[in-house]
Amino acid sequence: MQKIGIILGSGLSKFRNELTNQNVIYSELGGIHEKQVIEGKLNNNSVVLFTGRNHFYETYSKEKVFRNVSLAKDLNIDFLIVTNAAGGLNPQFNISDLMLIKSHINFFQKPLIESQKVEFSPDIIKWAKDCAIRNKIKIYEGCYYASSGPVYETQAEINFIKKSGADSVGMSTIPDILRANELGIKTLGISCITNLLHYGMNAKVTHDEVVSAGAKAYKVFSNYLNALINDY
Ligand code: HPA
Repeated sequence: MQKIGIILGSGLSKFRNELTNQNVIYSELGGIHEKQVIEGKLNNNSVVLFTGRNHFYETYSKEKVFRNVSLAKDLNIDFLIVTNAAGGLNPQFNISDLMLIKSHINFFQKPLIESQKVEFSPDIIKWAKDCAIRNKIKIYEGCYYASSGPVYETQAEINFIKKSGADSVGMSTIPDILRANELGIKTLGISCITNLLHYGMNAKVTHDEVVSAGAKAYKVFSNYLNALINDY
């Protein structure tokens, strides 16, 4: 039976409540992000949720940064949905909007991994987009800018990133996708827009704001994940 893994970004870990027959495989409480790996069932599908991740800014240990994806491989996961909370640069975006990651700009310190080759499969993106449309869920596609963090961007950085053509910005996901590609796991990246970043707005983003916007986006986010899992 196929197994789907989902890495849950900041404010999105409530999705664990959707799983039945839960079994906690790994637990690391405390620290900036609570990390748990939970196996369970969602409408008869085998699902593994990863709440929280080790960010590149927290550690120089590749082993830690890649822990979720390595575990996904050990658990025979063949499809990994990697989600994140992200700032929205595209002027069309509103808070709680969802964006499928079609391409990326990697501003992490390199090299994190031998291959920087990230392939977002056009077929998987098309399937995910069609699934959203069929379920009447508003969805965007765009370019994700991976910033090394841990601080949010200055206004000048926001202006610079906007000029680069990126649609969303966050501090995660690309290491997960790189490693999953290397291990032969199919992936889909989804940004959940938690704050809007516009020219000259002088937005002061806080972690609390990101987490509470993630919680607000929960309904549409969880509807979409349910739809994707049922459709896979
Ligand atoms: N910048 C970087 N990472 C983020 C943001 C942001 O504005 N929002 C959520 N994660």
